[in-house]
Amino acid sequence: MTQSETAKPGTAKPGTAKPSETQAKPAEIIHAPPFSQALMQELLSAYGSPLYVYQGDRLCQTLDHITRSVDYPHTQFHFASVTNGNVALLQIIRQKGWGLHANTPGDVFLGLQAGFLPTQIVYSGSNLSREDLEQLIRWDIHRFNLDSLSQLRLFGDCSVARSPTPALGLRLNAPELTGESRIGIRPAEFEEACAIAQQYGLTLTGLHFYRGTGTNATAAFTQVIDQVIAIAQRLPHWQMLDFGGGFGYPYRSGAAFDWPEFGAAMRQKLAALSRPIELVIEPGRAVIAGCGVLLAQVVAVKWQGDRQIVGVDTTVANLSVPAVHGGYRAITTWVSGSSRHPTDICGNTTYSRDYLGRGCELPMLKVGDVVAILDSGAYGYAMSSHFLHRPRPAEVLVAANDHRLIREREDYSILLNGQKF
Ligand SMILES: Cc1ncc(COP(=O)(O)O)c(C=O)c1O
Repeated sequence: MTQSETAKPGTAKPGTAKPSETQAKPAEIIHAPPFSQALMQELLSAYGSPLYVYQGDRLCQTLDHITRSVDYPHTQFHFASVTNGNVALLQIIRQKGWGLHANTPGDVFLGLQAGFLPTQIVYSGSNLSREDLEQLIRWDIHRFNLDSLSQLRLFGDCSVARSPTPALGLRLNAPELTGESRIGIRPAEFEEACAIAQQYGLTLTGLHFYRGTGTNATAAFTQVIDQVIAIAQRLPHWQMLDFGGGFGYPYRSGAAFDWPEFGAAMRQKLAALSRPIELVIEPGRAVIAGCGVLLAQVVAVKWQGDRQIVGVDTTVANLSVPAVHGGYRAITTWVSGSSRHPTDICGNTTYSRDYLGRGCELPMLKVGDVVAILDSGAYGYAMSSHFLHRPRPAEVLVAANDHRLIREREDYSILLNGQKF
């Protein structure tokens, strides 16, 4: 799960790679709207505002780019649906030949609805209860990465009567590679882990590495491949390397993660091994961020000196990442105008952190104008909540010159869901 986009994920070797470049807000440049004004108007009149819009063609292009770039022959691609659990989008990803990466039983539930087979799902968990594990085993999940010795014992108890047993890997905790993290097992514990596995008739065949989310510095990944492989080789039955997610997205600024460079490094290192090792990668943000936009309508404008304070009809509860966890999303508009003004885009609540963007450079806006919060496909709807008690927006998919509703707008009745009074 994402801790924070501002939190420094694991650090690469000191003095080599830079930490995530998604952290700092870049110098403001004016971004082109994601699609035509005519389409924006058509979408808002058909589905209302605010509105999450996903561009299916762009999603497919990104999937193709990553698939082409990582061309080591034994690679399996799994989309990390922690970032976006919309079933219609998951179906597109499945149709492109990718599998699913699940962090929670809910991820699996949604993945199965999207038609992924249990054999196409990799589960990397933490702190699963017996009920969770029993449910996952009933769903026939094919591969697990576990993150503590006690989870390994519990898994042994739950899967003891299961045949064949699912493939099993350890989540790595090595502060010099993964950063200080609560997740994972230290290499010093591997021997004990293997002994526990053996007790239950299980074999540890996988090593799972996760560097932390949102890292654009390609070298932060490529420079540690050798070290991760050396650690994996300490598992006597090692067959699979899961190199995680965490690959950055440039959010329309700064250096982008270089997929061809990463793919070439991975191929070179793995092809040099004496036997074929399966590679799993499970990007989330890098796949889905760029195809999503949150459209919002201006409902109020005021000026504080030369700063434009623009109120819109959405809130950080719909896009909590920038305001609550840090990070940056470019905001643009279809309104033209040669003058630009420092602009804060504020949500429609009194929450003091209800900013969708601060210090944006935008033309003078008026009530009824529309802004687009770009690159909202990852950790957008998935992290939205009813905090502030506003029902959530609808989600729409635009593909092949057509559009359709893929999640209904909520109404106030949702706020009573399950309440007894
Ligand atoms: C194990 C694991 N894999 C993949 C991801 C997806 O990360 P990202 O969106 O940074 O690619 C996460 C996110 O929390 C994760 O915990």
